[in-house]
Amino acid sequence: MTAPDTAPPAAADTAPDTAPDIALDVRDLRAGYDASDVLEGICLQVARDERVGLFGPNGHGKSTLLNTISRVIRPRAGRVAFMGEEIGQLPAQTIVARGLVHVPQANRLFPDMQILETLELSAYTPRARAAKDETLDRVLQLFPRLAERRRQACKTLSGGERQMLSIGVGLMSAPRMLMLDEPTLGLSPKLKDELAEAIAAISATGIPLLLVEQDIAFTLSLVDRMYLIDHGAISREVGRSGGVDHQEIMEMYFGTGEGA
Ligand SMILES: Nc1ncnc2c1ncn2[C@@H]1O[C@H](COP(=O)(O)OP(=O)(O)OP(=O)(O)O)[C@@H](O)[C@H]1O
Ligand SMILES: [Mg+2]
Repeated sequence: MTAPDTAPPAAADTAPDTAPDIALDVRDLRAGYDASDVLEGICLQVARDERVGLFGPNGHGKSTLLNTISRVIRPRAGRVAFMGEEIGQLPAQTIVARGLVHVPQANRLFPDMQILETLELSAYTPRARAAKDETLDRVLQLFPRLAERRRQACKTLSGGERQMLSIGVGLMSAPRMLMLDEPTLGLSPKLKDELAEAIAAISATGIPLLLVEQDIAFTLSLVDRMYLIDHGAISREVGRSGGVDHQEIMEMYFGTGEGA
């Protein structure tokens, strides 16, 4: 039961206080499971021309944050604006249709479906359908391994190939911004290099990026700026002007700069 006075005000679907160059604006976001909050009031921004990393220990809320932004999990408080519009109350499929695309940590693929079918079916929003053939060509160009195996069933793919297909699935939604959760999980160094190249190429087309990743070298090769998440809150931010400094990251993560 919702009391009338708890309904959001009419202006809540716009976010007038978000600067025009900001793609994603998260303010005081709280979310969690059952009785406890995992996210303790997260604030972060990603500009329209930016690649931002989110780094932090296991279990501190990185995936919960992406899941809350993409509305897999309902936020308990706070605001999320995408391209200047409030999206915190919208259903997940509407957020995808607006172009905010989340590639989850363990993407579920249909085991018996072929790569090609999987990609084609992933272009289901009106914007994505309109660009389907073009996007498919681009995905197969970005990931030649997927092109070679296009008739293969998903269940026969290696872990690395699955990760690439998951990103391909995200791209088929015609993203205006991508959020990737641990895309290198289980990849060999060679595949990581291939993936970094593909992600850089995607981002070079003007798609802002929020990258959750434990591989610090991989992250540093891609991002302009990083946040550290600690117990469900942003504890530090580095690299706002210029590139991200490796030493700074070590200090941020290990506290001394002599970590490892
Ligand atoms: N579906 C769920 N139900 C209950 N608790 C959950 C659920 N998913 C995650 N959690 C808990 O929320 C906390 C944050 O988990 P989350 O997956 O967001 O962490 P993470 O930073 O992404 O970790 P990792 O680096 O291991 O992927 C953890 O304590 C986790 O056990
Ligand atoms: Mg995670």
